Amino acid sequence: MVCFLYPETCPSLASVLLNMDILIFFSFLFPLIYAAEPCSTTKCGKNEIPIQFPFQLEGKLPENCGYPGFNLGCKSQNTIVLKLPYSGEFFVRDINYLDQQIYLYDPDNCIPKRLLSFNLSGSPFLAAFHQNYTFLNCPTQVTKSRFTTIDCLSNSTNSVLATSSMSLANSMASSCQIITIFPVPVSWPAKYGETFSADLEDDIQLTWYTPQCGDCEAEGGICGFKSNNSKEIDCFHLPKSGTSGNGLQVFKILCLSIAIPAVSCAIGIAVFTCCLDSRRRARENSTRRSTDPSAVLPQPVPVVTGLDESTIESYQKLVLGESRRIPGPNDSTCPICLSEYLSKDTIRCIPECKHCFHAECIDEWLRMNTTCPVCRNSPSAEDANSHTDIV
Ligand SMILES: *[C@@H]1O[C@H](CO)[C@@H](O)[C@H](O)[C@H]1NC(C)=O
Ligand SMILES: *[C@@H]1O[C@H](CO)[C@@H](O)[C@H](O)[C@H]1NC(C)=O
Ligand SMILES: *[C@@H]1O[C@H](CO)[C@@H](O)[C@H](O)[C@H]1NC(C)=O
Ligand SMILES: *[C@@H]1O[C@H](CO)[C@@H](O)[C@H](O)[C@H]1NC(C)=O
Repeated sequence: MVCFLYPETCPSLASVLLNMDILIFFSFLFPLIYAAEPCSTTKCGKNEIPIQFPFQLEGKLPENCGYPGFNLGCKSQNTIVLKLPYSGEFFVRDINYLDQQIYLYDPDNCIPKRLLSFNLSGSPFLAAFHQNYTFLNCPTQVTKSRFTTIDCLSNSTNSVLATSSMSLANSMASSCQIITIFPVPVSWPAKYGETFSADLEDDIQLTWYTPQCGDCEAEGGICGFKSNNSKEIDCFHLPKSGTSGNGLQVFKILCLSIAIPAVSCAIGIAVFTCCLDSRRRARENSTRRSTDPSAVLPQPVPVVTGLDESTIESYQKLVLGESRRIPGPNDSTCPICLSEYLSKDTIRCIPECKHCFHAECIDEWLRMNTTCPVCRNSPSAEDANSHTDIV
């Protein structure tokens, strides 16, 4: 407790606690009475994904509970549907309100087919990256069991393959036919080297930058429009169960306004008495401690072992462009120094877990630690290749 360390602060501590009673009393009263009503969360049948601002189920009232372009549909009781203006309907696997990401899959389970004509125009969603993929159509005897094929686009005589490697595509050009080269939305730029990719069958991961509600979500608030006819966003903080009838609310307010001052009063008194007690003890101890040599034993210095410089250098480095878009599961601040990424900042990402940081921050860390500061996984030197991209 504070007072054991600083007995001198006792009387002021007690009066601060009394002042806090008054503050707490009012801060509990006000949100219940004056807070605007934000939009509620809905669900699509048995689907667990909450649908909340900026998303809204189509046809649900009030109309101003969703941001333009964020309308969702509900199909066969529990499938959430997102309709993109130029790419048609996708099913929603998940929505991450904190990172502002949405994961889409194809109703017909053939994402590569949908990617061949994927176009995000007219929607608020963006891909973290685009990467050019070459789609090839090869006779099945050429590819048979040697390459990863896209099964849902292949048949018994023809196999379809996709690669981000131009040289690999060109080397196959004699026996295969190039269907198209198309910028595919990816969450992370692939470094497959010379292979055909199976990753295109994964869910499409898209993000949105407007409205910015991730920070509000992170602090437990509810994001919504400031008022009925405003497009400005506000973050509402409501007690979780504040809407279950007026009588009950008044009762709760009364209980809180009595219980909270009472409890903190008791704490105040307890602290005060403990302080008096410890002050006496501190005085007794101070005379004894001056003769006790064991109180100032030096701490052993811990041995630090991190990754070597060449391993650190082998991790991918990116220079942020104007959009300051960070790939992978990262948000807009560096988890180490907690400052926001600026354009032209150099960031470095750990290949295994895809967590990114300012290069100077993570380099410093990795010189002393061998784990990712976010997920604590140990990165290894393999499969990292050294290059600097401009995003
Ligand atoms: C997407 O569709 C819009 C509108 O039809 C068009 O202008 C744009 O060129 C398309 N983009 C791509 C990458 O096909
Ligand atoms: C993809 O290819 C087009 C030309 O076909 C080119 O203009 C574009 O810069 C390429 N994009 C990437 C990300 O390499
Ligand atoms: C297989 O697909 C190709 C086009 O990719 C088509 O020309 C061919 O007729 C198909 N073969 C069968 C057996 O469906
Ligand atoms: C907000 O708008 C809805 C319809 O758009 C209306 O029913 C409601 O009364 C409005 N609320 C206020 C406080 O103006």
